[in-house]
Amino acid sequence: MLNDTVAPIRLSDYRPSDYAIDRIALDFDLRADETLVRAELAVSPRDGIGGKPLVLDGDELTLVSVALDGEVLGANSYQVQDTSLTISSPPQGAFTLTIVTRLDPAANTKLMGLYRSSGAWCTQCEAEGFRRITYFLDRPDVLSVYRVRMEADAKEAPVLLSNGNLVESGDCGNGRHFAVWDDPWPKPSYLFALVAGDLEAVKDSFTTKSGRHVDLAVYVEHGNGSKALYAMDSLKRSMKWDEDVFGREYDLDVFNVVAVSDFNMGAMENKGLNIFNDKYVLADADIATDGDYAGVESVIAHEYFHNWTGNRITCRDWFQLCLKEGLTVFRDQEFSADERSRPVKRIADVKVLRSHQFPEDGGPLAHPVRPNQYKEINNFYTATVYEKGAEVIRMLKTLIGDDAFARGMTLYFDRHDGQAATIEEFVACFAETSARDLSQFMNWYFQAGTPVVTVAERHDEASQTYELVLSQETPPTPGQPSKLPQVIPVRFGLVGSTGNDLRPSRISGAETSADVFILDKAQQTIVFEGLSERPVPSLFRAFSAPVKVRHALSSDDQVFLIGNDADPFNRWQAATSLSMAAIVKATHQARSGQPFSFDTAFAEALGAALDSDALDPAFKALLMSPPGENDIAREISENIDPDAIHTALMAFRRFVASRLAPRFARLVQDGTGDIGSGFSPDAASAGKRALANAALDYLALTGESSAFDLTYARFQAATNMTDRLAALSILVHRGAPQADEALAAFYARFSSVPLVVDKWLATQATVAKAQTLDKVIALTADPAFSFGNPNRVRSLIGSFASLNPTQFARADGKGFDYVAQTIGRIDDSNPQLASRLLVSFRSWRSYEQGRRSKAEKALRALQAKEKLSRDVSDILERTLA
Ligand code: TRP
Ligand code: ZN
Repeated sequence: MLNDTVAPIRLSDYRPSDYAIDRIALDFDLRADETLVRAELAVSPRDGIGGKPLVLDGDELTLVSVALDGEVLGANSYQVQDTSLTISSPPQGAFTLTIVTRLDPAANTKLMGLYRSSGAWCTQCEAEGFRRITYFLDRPDVLSVYRVRMEADAKEAPVLLSNGNLVESGDCGNGRHFAVWDDPWPKPSYLFALVAGDLEAVKDSFTTKSGRHVDLAVYVEHGNGSKALYAMDSLKRSMKWDEDVFGREYDLDVFNVVAVSDFNMGAMENKGLNIFNDKYVLADADIATDGDYAGVESVIAHEYFHNWTGNRITCRDWFQLCLKEGLTVFRDQEFSADERSRPVKRIADVKVLRSHQFPEDGGPLAHPVRPNQYKEINNFYTATVYEKGAEVIRMLKTLIGDDAFARGMTLYFDRHDGQAATIEEFVACFAETSARDLSQFMNWYFQAGTPVVTVAERHDEASQTYELVLSQETPPTPGQPSKLPQVIPVRFGLVGSTGNDLRPSRISGAETSADVFILDKAQQTIVFEGLSERPVPSLFRAFSAPVKVRHALSSDDQVFLIGNDADPFNRWQAATSLSMAAIVKATHQARSGQPFSFDTAFAEALGAALDSDALDPAFKALLMSPPGENDIAREISENIDPDAIHTALMAFRRFVASRLAPRFARLVQDGTGDIGSGFSPDAASAGKRALANAALDYLALTGESSAFDLTYARFQAATNMTDRLAALSILVHRGAPQADEALAAFYARFSSVPLVVDKWLATQATVAKAQTLDKVIALTADPAFSFGNPNRVRSLIGSFASLNPTQFARADGKGFDYVAQTIGRIDDSNPQLASRLLVSFRSWRSYEQGRRSKAEKALRALQAKEKLSRDVSDILERTLA
C-alpha cells in the first residue's frame, strides 16, 4: 500500500534543536541472544531555554529504563512512541539522562544500527541508524564527545573497536573482556561505530607531516590478511596525498578499517573506524579484476578523505548531503587521476555520470544536487548528490581558477572546522577568495535536470571571423516546470587543419580566458576574430560541464578530432559520438525491418588510433568500447525497443570486428605475453590487459571457432582475475560451445569465495537470451546465493535488472514481474536494498507502449502489496507519479 500519508521533511522547516548533548557515554554488553546498551547523555538547553519537552529519536528499540540525574523515571514522566522517547518536563538547566535499551542484533536484517555479519558485531549509523541503538537527537547538527565501553566474550570477540583512541582494556573474569574507546573530536551520531569479533589485522603505520605517529590496521576475516595489503597501501597513499594536495593531516593516533560481508553500500567513514563492504577491501590477483583494484583504491581514499570533508566539517542537516559527498567524490576522483592516468580516469567518471546520473536527472526521480524535501533520506544517496555534486565542484574550480579554488578550500577548512555547515557557507568561501558573485552559480545546487546545450557555427572568410551560437535549456523536472540559465564553463580549443589549436586575435560575447568561456544566458554568440580558416571546434574539453551537447559535427570533423584533438577526452568523445550515430541509425532501421549497413568511418579512425604509438593502451581500450545498450537507449530517449538496440549494436560491433580482425588478433597476441608473468595491479599493466581483452571481445564476435578456442585457452591459462573473467564473460555472452564448461570450472574453483561467486552470478544474469530469466530464478537456489546478503542480491538480481535490458524488459513483461516481486520480498527484510533495486524501473516511461504497460502493471502490483517500507513506497510513488 502506498504510504502517501507520510509528510515530507522540508529544508525550509529547518531549525536548530532545543537541546545540545555535549557528551555521551555508551556501555555495550554484547551477547549472542541480546545486547544491552546503557547511554548516559549530558543534555543542556541551547540558548538557556530550559524546560521544553525533550523528544529523542528511536527506531525498533526496547526501552529498559530511563533515569534523570540518577533518579529512575516513573512511567508518567516520559512517553515512548514508535519513533520517539519524550521527556515531558525536563529541568531548567543541564541534566544527565541515562537510558538503557535492549537490542537483538542477530535479528537485524536491515543492516542499520547494530547487527551481526559473519559472526561479528558491527554498526551502520548513517543516516539514521544510531536511533536503532539508543534514543538520541539523531541529527547531524548535534555534536557530542563519545566515550564507549564494550564487553563481550573474549573468545568470540577478541577484537573490540570503536571510534577514537583505545584508553583501557582488560579482563572481566568469566571468559569476558572489555575495552574503552575515547574519541576527543565532537561528532554527530551518524559517525559512531563499533565492531566486535574475531578478526585478523593487517597492521602498518603512517607518520603525518607534523610528525604524528598513526597506527593503521585493516581488519578482515581470518585467512584474508594477504588480500588486505592493497587496501593498506591505498590508505597510506591517500593520507600522503591529502597532506600534499589539500594540506590535510590526520588527527588521531589510530586509524582502523574493518571489512564486513553484509553491507548496504560501499563503505562508511565513521571517525577513526571506517567500515567497509569487503568488496572494497579484499583484492589479490586471483580474485580481483583491475576494476576491483581501482574500486578499492578509490573507496579507501573516499572514506579517508571524509575525515576532513564530512567529519571535521559535517552537514547541518541531510539536505546538505552533497556538502560532504559531492566534495569527497571530487577529492577521490582527483586522487585517482593523480595516481593513475588523468584522461582515462576522467573518461571513466564521465561514463558513470552519464549512465547513472543522466537517467536519474531525466526521469521521475530527478532532484536537485541539494534537494529541498524528502520522505526517506536513504533514497537521496544518489548519483545526483554524489556524482553531479562532484561535477559542480569541478566547475567551480574551472570557473574561479585553481588558485582561488585552493584558497577557498583552505578558508573553508579554517572557518568551519568543528561545525555542521551548509552549502551556502561552503560556496561563500569561494565567492570570497575569487571576489566573484556566485549567486547564479548556486542554481547548480537548486535546479534538477541536465541542461542541453545546442551549438551552431558560422565561419566568414572575408572578415576572418568564426562564430559559435550556443543556447542552453534545462528540461522540466518533478516540481520544477521552468528553469533559469546555468553558469556553464566551456573549456575549448579551435583545432586548425594542422591539428594545432588556433589562437584567435580577439574573443567576444562571453567572459573568456585562453581556453574557457562562460555561458550564463539562454543564448549567446561567441565571436572569434582573426581566423582565416574554419577551425574544428573542440568544446567541453575534459567534460567541463555536466550537460548534454547537441552539435551536428560532420563525420569528417569527428574523425579529424579522434586523430588530432589535443584533449584526450574529446578524442574519445568524438569516437563515441561517431559510433553512437551509426548505432542509433541502425536501431531505427532494425525497428522498421529495413536492412542496415555501416560506413567505414569509425572503423578506419579506430584502426589509425590503435596504430598510434602516442596513445596509451588503456586509452585505446576506451576508444574501442562502443556505447552500451543503456547508453543507446538514453540517446534515443523514447519509444525504446531494447531488442532493436541489441540487434543494431551487435551488428555494428561485428562490422568493426570484420574490418579490423587482423589488428585485434595482433593486440590479443601482444597482450598474451603478460599471462604467466608476475601480476601487478598498476594502471599501466591494467591498461595492457584492458586492450587485449577488448580486442578479444571483438574477435569472438565473428563467432569463429578459432576465436572461441583462443578465448577458452586464455581462460584456462589466466593467472589473474581480469583475464579469466574477461574470457569467461566472452564465452558465456557469445554462446561459445565451451561456455558451460568454463562456468563449471570457475564455480568449482571459487564457490567458497563469495566476492568471486558474485562475478559468476552477474556473468550469467547479463546474458541477452530468453533463457536468462529462468537461469536467474534457478540461481537463487544455489547454495552460494543468499537473499540476505546485499552483494549477492545486487550481483544476480541487480545485474539482471540494470545491465540486461533485453531480458529485464522482455516484451512479455516477465522480467519486470519477477524483479518487482523479488523487490517486494526483499523489502520485508532489507528496505534499503529493495528500494535501490527498484530504481531500475525509473525509465519505464521511455519504453515502447507494450513494454511500458507491462512495467506499469508490475509496479502497480508491487504497490498493492500489504506492507511496504517507507523506502520502497517513496520510490514507487515518485516513479509512478
Ligand atoms: N557516507 C557513506 C559514503 O559515501 C555512504 C553511506 C551512507 C552508507 N549511508 C550508508 C554506507 C548506509 C552504508 C550504509 O562514504
Ligand atoms: Zn561518502
